[in-house]
Amino acid sequence: MNQSLPTQVRLVEVGPRDGLQNEKQPISVADKVRLVDDLTDAGLRYIEVGSFVSPKWVPQMAGSAEVFAGIRQRPGVIYAALAPNLKGLDAALAAGVKEVAVFAAASESFSQKNINCSIAESLARFAPLMQQAQRHGMRVRGYVSCVLGCPYEGAVPPEQVASIATELLSMGCYEVCLADTIGVGTAGETRSLFDFVGRDISRQQLAGHFHDTYGQALTNIYAGLLEGISVFDSSVAGLGGCPYAAGATGNVATEDVLYLLNGLGIHTGVDLDQVIAAGQRICTLLDKPNGSRVARASVGSVAVSSRPRRRPV
Ligand code: HMG
Ligand code: MG
Repeated sequence: MNQSLPTQVRLVEVGPRDGLQNEKQPISVADKVRLVDDLTDAGLRYIEVGSFVSPKWVPQMAGSAEVFAGIRQRPGVIYAALAPNLKGLDAALAAGVKEVAVFAAASESFSQKNINCSIAESLARFAPLMQQAQRHGMRVRGYVSCVLGCPYEGAVPPEQVASIATELLSMGCYEVCLADTIGVGTAGETRSLFDFVGRDISRQQLAGHFHDTYGQALTNIYAGLLEGISVFDSSVAGLGGCPYAAGATGNVATEDVLYLLNGLGIHTGVDLDQVIAAGQRICTLLDKPNGSRVARASVGSVAVSSRPRRRPV
């Protein structure tokens, strides 16, 4: 379906979670707190701060409760965490977390590798989690991984994606984020998927999460915009990857998405220069190159004004 572009986009900043979960080197709680605070100051309204998962599976997220205790929480900003089961939700509640995300996969093999159970078992585990969240008035976001391809099975049928997304919404998720975990999708496939899933689900309840492994994430976001999607995940400095999808690079860089959206005159409320500064800071700390093309250009010799431009007519 061809729709006009949205006038506003909500960016879900996943850098502190999706970005850092894959880092092998130790990162102190203070450094994680500083990253989240920098992102808050840049105007991001939704930040995925950490995960309440098994520390044996993802050691880097082990200190998430301490990170939540340390961050400056600005009113109106959502600070969320991943929770794979009731144990994770209870730990999140104990840490004062107000919103969590559950994560299912559209491929059986990835579900087994990532959360050690089948898709059906994962959904069954979410049921008591959803009930507990409801009792505490907590909103739950849902993810579906591998929507445009699986590292173990290859192609994934859109029917499978639509069916899991529908199930997550019927369980009580307010929004489902379709994730290209290994960044293989193209713009045509992205449009077809949103078109297909959007037949039974309102586009207001769908979001996109594009890893940039094949360099297609920005065009996939544009494809999503054309399909009327207005919530996208991104990661400062393009940090990250999934520990259970070898070779997949980080999420699309927040800086690059902002540059795209600013150019289209789409409002986000986020200050690009401050995100660039936050990205530079964490990359220096991690001693790794900045994954954002916009950040690299801006600190190099081809910097141009990063102020939002007028909406083209
Ligand atoms: P399991 O081993 O099958 O769990 O793991 P279990 O229920 O048999 O329990 C085993 C041990 O884990 C027990 O401890 C439990 O207490 C503990 P033990 O008795 O051995 O000491 N345990 C927990 N500890 C802390 N927090 C918990 C928890 N649950 C059980 N919540 C489990 C199943 C789901 C826990 C495990 O597989 C896991 O933690 N997986 C996490 C995987 C993960 O975080 N992946 C990355 C995030 S998803 C992602 O990146 C994709 C996304 O970005 C979208 C996309 O790009 O596709 C969202
Ligand atoms: Mg991801």
